[in-house]
Amino acid sequence: MRILIPQEDLERRIAELAAEIDRDYAASDRLVCIGVLKGSVFFMVDLLKRLKVPLAIDFFQTSSYGSSTSPGEVRIRKDLDLSIRGKDVLLIEDIVDTGYTLRTILDLLRFRGARSVRLCALLDKAAAREVEVKIDYRGFEIEKLFVVGYGLDFDEHYRNLPYIAVLDEDAPDVPSPS
Ligand code: IMP
Ligand code: MG
Repeated sequence: MRILIPQEDLERRIAELAAEIDRDYAASDRLVCIGVLKGSVFFMVDLLKRLKVPLAIDFFQTSSYGSSTSPGEVRIRKDLDLSIRGKDVLLIEDIVDTGYTLRTILDLLRFRGARSVRLCALLDKAAAREVEVKIDYRGFEIEKLFVVGYGLDFDEHYRNLPYIAVLDEDAPDVPSPS
């Protein structure tokens, strides 16, 4: 396990993103921040604690159908509780990888009549992108590596690490998941 983004760097960057979001939504009285469970939770909490604009929060949970050879089909396992019609929606994600999950969610949010939809993602694995997704607020661009920590998991492990780490499956000191 190698630390890719230390806790201090996460905190500093999240403070910058929060300041930018606060400025951009200063005139909005209808911001709804939507997190994608479960990976975005740590990032979302730290980001939203720094915002001063009034906002509501809600959550989505998705999963991809079947094998990774047909990743285009995304299933909604938990839908929103709130109506987003006429709202300014800020979707908060841990990582954009192929882009399939985000593409589906962003299309759905627009279809449901949101006034505006923007995406805030902590990590951008740009080299892995298969469908185009516009990231309005981006924390860090990272290489095409499998990362864990700060919400991101490998088989539900490592989410609670306070930093982003690269999981080296060949390393002998990595505890076996499950
Ligand atoms: P996408 O649909 O390929 O963009 O994948 C998005 C989802 O895959 C993210 O929300 C994560 O849950 C998961 N994911 C993608 N890359 C990683 C990674 O490096 N570590 C852990 N989870 C990942
Ligand atoms: Mg995951």
